[in-house]
Amino acid sequence: MKNLFKYLISGSLTAMFALVAFALPSLSDEGSIARGGQLYDKWYSVIKEKGPQETHPAWPATNTAKSGDTTWRCKSCHGWDYKGVDGAYGNSKSYLTGIKGIDGMAGADIDAIIAVLKNDTHQLVDLMDEGDFKDLAMFVSKGQVDMSQYIDTTTKAFSGGDATAGANYYNTLCSQCHAKEGNKPKDMPESFGSLMGGNPWEGMHKILNGQPNENMPALRALDRQITLDIMAHMATLPTEM
Ligand code: HEC
Ligand code: HEC
Repeated sequence: MKNLFKYLISGSLTAMFALVAFALPSLSDEGSIARGGQLYDKWYSVIKEKGPQETHPAWPATNTAKSGDTTWRCKSCHGWDYKGVDGAYGNSKSYLTGIKGIDGMAGADIDAIIAVLKNDTHQLVDLMDEGDFKDLAMFVSKGQVDMSQYIDTTTKAFSGGDATAGANYYNTLCSQCHAKEGNKPKDMPESFGSLMGGNPWEGMHKILNGQPNENMPALRALDRQITLDIMAHMATLPTEM
């Protein structure tokens, strides 16, 4: 009888764990994906190294607006919207490279992506370790969001969020570092109001994945709607300080 009881308990525990695992199948590696998203942004800052000083060999000579370490950031060639030349950077003055996006490899096999990152074009083999390559590949495969669902490619207008709910999230999760007005903490080049008008793709990427080498949380494991609501609120913040 005692044994039967034990058996039943452990059976139902197993069933409960199976249920939880079933309910959250896509959440297992969000930490790795978020770190990959930060590496995609500024990998040398994440691994606490100085970026290479010479311009990346794959950076087109026709673009003289940018040089040095920033040409090594994944986002500089492939875009904050992951669409490369087919996205916002197709119209950019300073980041026009003509290079394709990474969206074609969304959902691709992790090892196939690592092989691309280790190819001669990318020149990264001596600069990153296996953990970095894996996190980056996890981001490329499982972390991309089709931002055109929320951000109009031409007008940059943002939709899909509730600004009132977003204010409550923002004022409890973000304002301790960024201030209610969205203009802090240290070297933000612009306020959140102007970021939303200028580069909402960068905003969305950073909210989901965090800011490289900072203590900022990444929201990607939470319901996507929270990020959308926060962005809707950010769009209402002042652009001039
Ligand atoms: C200086 C520009 C440049 C930078 C920086 C760069 N790439 Fe690329 N990437 C390219 C070019 C050019 C290609 C296409 C040709 C090739 O892979 O040889 C490419 C291809 C890719 C592809 C394959 C896309 C496809 O559909 O075939 C992925 C994935 C990728 N890069 C990811 C990254 C990641 C992640 C980083 C940051 C660690 C990065 N790239 C940094 C230039 C760049
Ligand atoms: C622990 C402090 C902290 C918290 C909490 C925090 N952040 Fe940040 N965030 C930073 C730091 C530091 C930066 C880097 C910019 C700077 O130094 O001013 C940053 C950068 C950003 C950027 C990029 C700004 C730019 O122009 O490059 C966005 C967007 C952002 N945060 C959004 C948010 C949102 C939304 C929340 C709440 C969900 C949040 N952050 C919570 C510390 C924080």
